[in-house]
Amino acid sequence: MKRKLLITGGAGFIGSHVVRLFVNKYPDYQIVNLDALTYAGNLENLTDINEKANYTFEKGDITDETFIDELFQKYHFDGVIHLAAESHVDRSILDPLAFIRTNVMGTAVLLNSARKHWKGNENGKLFYHVSTDEVYGSLGEEGFFTEETSYDPRSPYSASKASSDHFVMAYYHTYHLPAIISNCSNNYGSHHFPEKLIPLAIHNIKNNKPVPVYGKGENVRDWLFVEDHARAIDVIFHNGRLGETYNIGGFNEWKNIDLIQLLCRIMDKKLGRPEGTSAQLITFVKDRAGHDLRYAIDATKLNKELGWEPSLQFEEGLEKTVDWYLSNEEWLQHVTSGAYQQYYQEQYQKR
Ligand SMILES: NC(=O)c1ccc[n+]([C@@H]2O[C@H](COP(=O)([O-])OP(=O)(O)OC[C@H]3O[C@@H](n4cnc5c(N)ncnc54)[C@H](O)[C@@H]3O)[C@@H](O)[C@H]2O)c1
Repeated sequence: MKRKLLITGGAGFIGSHVVRLFVNKYPDYQIVNLDALTYAGNLENLTDINEKANYTFEKGDITDETFIDELFQKYHFDGVIHLAAESHVDRSILDPLAFIRTNVMGTAVLLNSARKHWKGNENGKLFYHVSTDEVYGSLGEEGFFTEETSYDPRSPYSASKASSDHFVMAYYHTYHLPAIISNCSNNYGSHHFPEKLIPLAIHNIKNNKPVPVYGKGENVRDWLFVEDHARAIDVIFHNGRLGETYNIGGFNEWKNIDLIQLLCRIMDKKLGRPEGTSAQLITFVKDRAGHDLRYAIDATKLNKELGWEPSLQFEEGLEKTVDWYLSNEEWLQHVTSGAYQQYYQEQYQKR
């Protein structure tokens, strides 16, 4: 079936992997990538598919009601995969209102446009909201988050995502808007903005800079290779049940300090340094305020219902990620220098 899909946040880390997968796998679909190109959005993430006939980029803000309405009128979308968000917990502690604007208000604007444009004709439509396991709060040493776990967000970021999830379900129940949510654990892989733990550590190790680790590095996260997340989104988008939530996880829990030590060993090997060299760069810093101790996802429902499972072992995925960063030095320089803004001007303004 031919479909017209709106993917929001497609110039970001996960969004670019989702856009790439859909554009390449579904040549019959028309994919529109809507992104405001904040500091986290980078069109250089998509140079390999930029010229494909079934791909269009639209620059715009999801909080702009008029613009979003016009977009629905222009393209007659029958599906939305919504990833656009402010996504960094540390930034949410510094500026919570920006997170409320984009994550709560932006999601509500999209839901409202979808409702208006699909009213009376909901059959075959789908609003797919991409969310995080952080909405569930923090675990002790035991247990897992399931789809039945109560929401207990504890940072401005997770509170804004939890709120957006509630609006999605409110639109499903109140207006019968066809909707699905997935809540995923921490992602890692290529094209990840170097403010997040893994790309930041790779960048700093390479440049012999201190590698900051919060507190004692005791916090535990479940890590999933970003391309496996994109595959899960594909499976859920096409086969998930309306009104359902699916947890996505890697069955792969690591303490931050163990992860960083593994990364140091991989970097020593890749850079030809004596073992133990990179680990000397580890520097413990003051813990993040309200730092959740442990997240762990039970992704059994997704596995049993839709047959999805992670494809990569962590060490293999981490090596692939390190290889990508080491051979894409230019990408890293551009995102850190803001030169990709210039790239955007050159790529699109002249047309
Ligand atoms: N990174 C993770 O580990 C993780 C895990 C689970 C869920 N998620 C969720 O997945 C989604 C994508 O995360 P990510 O890590 O790729 O984020 P990211 O920060 O790399 O990308 C976000 C994208 O959204 C765009 N954007 C931001 N505000 C916008 C606005 N107002 N209008 C239009 N576009 C805007 C940015 O330009 C950027 O391209 C988010 O909703 C996040 O909550 C992320």
